[in-house]
Amino acid sequence: MMQFGERLRMTIFGSSHGPEVGVEVDGLPAGMPVDLVTIQRQLDRRRPVGRRLATKRQEEDRLVVDQGWADGHTDGAKFRAHVANQDVQRASYDRMKNVPRPGHADFPARVRYGADADLSGGGIFSGRMTVGLVIAGVLAEGLLARLGVQVVAFTRSIGSIDAMVPDDLEVARLRSLAAQNEVEAPDAAGAAKMEAAILEARREGDSLGGVVEVRAVGLPVGLGEPFFDSVESVVSHALFSIPAVKAVEFGAGFAGARMRGSEHNDPFVIEGGQVRTSSNHAGGILGGLTDGMPVVARVAIKPTASIARAQRSVDLSTRTETSLTVTGRHDPCIVPRAVGVVEHVTAFALADLALRGGFLR
Ligand SMILES: Cc1cc2nc3c(=O)[nH]c(=O)nc-3n(C[C@H](O)[C@H](O)[C@H](O)COP(=O)(O)O)c2cc1C
Repeated sequence: MMQFGERLRMTIFGSSHGPEVGVEVDGLPAGMPVDLVTIQRQLDRRRPVGRRLATKRQEEDRLVVDQGWADGHTDGAKFRAHVANQDVQRASYDRMKNVPRPGHADFPARVRYGADADLSGGGIFSGRMTVGLVIAGVLAEGLLARLGVQVVAFTRSIGSIDAMVPDDLEVARLRSLAAQNEVEAPDAAGAAKMEAAILEARREGDSLGGVVEVRAVGLPVGLGEPFFDSVESVVSHALFSIPAVKAVEFGAGFAGARMRGSEHNDPFVIEGGQVRTSSNHAGGILGGLTDGMPVVARVAIKPTASIARAQRSVDLSTRTETSLTVTGRHDPCIVPRAVGVVEHVTAFALADLALRGGFLR
């Protein structure tokens, strides 16, 4: 299913080594201002080019809007936009056609779709598919801005190195601190250690994973649909679509399982005439509905599967065991490039819930 959302719906299309990747978005109100420069800036944030730590695949990712936009506004038609795939090198994938990469989607995809499926460059399982998620997410952020909602993501940890990030840092401050380094961590000292760790992993032909945190601030109380479409369900559904995401927790998450109720409960207080809580172990969600505190989620990204070391695999044509050394161009750590994707996917899920709950029209 290449579609997500109910009132605001995105359909992503394309593949890693096909002609293009992109997205269609249904459900946007006509006349909504959409600044293409903002979308391009967010696509550039996702791009590896210029990043010392990233893959050598050079994609320009130049935004092309096909429909649904005129003179700076949505025009009421379905929005459609794409970027071309230019730097396609199939040779390294052709060599691996019958030998699935450990940790990547190659094996189950080949069994499910057969030998003719185009899995070159990861096919539809490639990180390139996240181009569409970012485009759709920028549109969603435009909708959320009408409610005064801001969404920000940043790197929490890479490998065993944690960023030190105060809980109450303002969104603008988080953004500006994270923008100062290549790993998007709002802690300069932690970021320097993370960069060194990524370079070390790359030298060793290996890779690293990490944790991205996302915060959505300014949400109204009561957003979310009861039971199956709780805020946790819808946001994590969207987040798990991002390739390489293996875990999502909200608020205190797994650590909360070790707390007592007296510790985990967030006491209600009045602040500036508003009902707030003095802590946020709930991650801004009670009963699947927003409680007015920031929605906070942490997303675990696994270490990049494609590593430049000999690994055990099998040859599917001969059904014998073999050794595989992955060639091609890969990120030694996906985390920095996933930060913007996590931010935009979260914004999209929340904007859909805002429309469903009648908070936006
Ligand atoms: C922005 C982004 C870039 C990625 N780049 C790579 C890459 O260069 N090499 C790789 O092996 N996996 C990469 N991935 C992850 C794979 O697409 C993913 O691990 C694979 O499809 C298997 O899916 P799973 O990890 O969700 O099980 C990337 C993911 C994202 C979000």
